[in-house]
Amino acid sequence: QLSQRDQLYEILAVTAKFFEHALHQSQGAIALDYLRTKRKLSPEIVQQFQLGYAPGGWQTLYGYLVEQKRYPVEQVEQAGLLVPRQGGSGYYDRFRDRLMIPICDVQGRVIGFGGRALGDEQPKYLNSPEGDLFDKGKTLYGLDLAKGAIAKRDEAIVVEGYFDVIALHAAGITNVVASMGTALTQGQIKQLLRYTESKRIIFNFDDDKAGQKAADRAIGELADLAYRGEVQVRILNLPEGKDPDEFLKAHSPSAYQDLLQDAPLWLDWQIQKLLANKDLSQPDQFHASTQAIAQLLGSLPNATLRTHYIHRCAELLSRGNARLAVQLEQDL
Ligand code: GTP
Ligand code: MN
Ligand code: MN
Ligand code: MN
Ligand code: MN
Repeated sequence: QLSQRDQLYEILAVTAKFFEHALHQSQGAIALDYLRTKRKLSPEIVQQFQLGYAPGGWQTLYGYLVEQKRYPVEQVEQAGLLVPRQGGSGYYDRFRDRLMIPICDVQGRVIGFGGRALGDEQPKYLNSPEGDLFDKGKTLYGLDLAKGAIAKRDEAIVVEGYFDVIALHAAGITNVVASMGTALTQGQIKQLLRYTESKRIIFNFDDDKAGQKAADRAIGELADLAYRGEVQVRILNLPEGKDPDEFLKAHSPSAYQDLLQDAPLWLDWQIQKLLANKDLSQPDQFHASTQAIAQLLGSLPNATLRTHYIHRCAELLSRGNARLAVQLEQDL
C-alpha cells in the first residue's frame, strides 16, 4: 500500500508518460512541429526534458487516469490535474491542448507541470497549482538535471523561463535553472547554493520590465550575503533585450559563453545602472548619483573593497576632474 504522497508521485509520473506518448501520436503533431521548427529542439532534448502534449478535449486525461487506470478522482484532483466543475458535479482536465513541461524535484520526480499555449491563447503558461508536492518557492526548474554541472563548474546560472533552461542545455550549457518567472525566494537560493562550493551565481534574466524586477528582487534577497563576500553574484544582460533562448537562436553557444565570462559583478552592475543615462553636468543629477552611490557602498563591510569602489566611483563621477575626485573620495 502506497502512502498518499507516493500515490501523488505515481499519478504525476504516469501523467508525464501519457503526455509524452500523446506528443508522438497524430494528435500531438502540431506540438511536436512547434518544438522542432519554432524551438529548433532535437528529439534527444525533447526526450531528456520529457516534453509532452496535453490533448484537447475536456476529459481526455480524466478518462485515462480515472476510468481506465482507476486512480481515485480526489487524488488526481489533488495532483493538480483536474478542476472541479463549478456549481455542478464532476471534473475536467486542467491542461488542454498545451505543450507540457514536467517540473521535477531535485531527485527528478515529477511534482507538477508547466503547460505552454501553442498559439496566442492566454495565459501563455498555465502551471500546476501548489499542493502537497509542488511548492513553487522551493522549486527551481531544471535543478535535477543541472546539479551535477553546477557542482562541477562551481557556478549556477539562473534564468527566467523553461525554454531558457532547455535551450541552454541544447547548447551544452547545463549548469542552469529557472525561477519560473517568480521572484527568487530564500528557500530557492539556499537550495541552489548547496551545489556550488564557491557560492557563485549568475543571474541572466530577461531585459524587460519583469526581468529587471526579478533581478532587483533577487539581488535584494542576496545583498547581505553578497556584501559580506559570502556569495559571488554576477549579472548577465543579453544584448538586444533577448532572453537566453532567443539569443541562442541567433548566436553560437560560444558567444553566450563569452558574455557569461564578462558578466559584471552585481556591485559593478548596480553602479553602471545608477550612472546610465545620467547627465552628470547637471547639478541635481550629479548630486542624486553621488548620494545613491554613497548609499550603495556604505553597506560594504570590507574596508579594502570599499576603498577600491569609492576610488573607482569618484573617478566615474568626476570624469577626470582630479580635484573633484579627491573631494568625492572624502565625501563618499
Ligand atoms: P516563451 O515565449 O515560451 O519563450 O516564454 P518565456 O519563458 O520567454 O516567457 P517570459 O519571459 O514571458 O516568462 C518567463 C517565465 O515566466 C516562463 O517561462 C514561465 O515560467 C513564467 N510565465 C510566463 N508567462 C506566464 C503566465 O502567463 N502564467 C504563469 N503562471 N507563468 C508565466
Ligand atoms: Mn525529470
Ligand atoms: Mn520576459
Ligand atoms: Mn523570456
Ligand atoms: Mn522566451
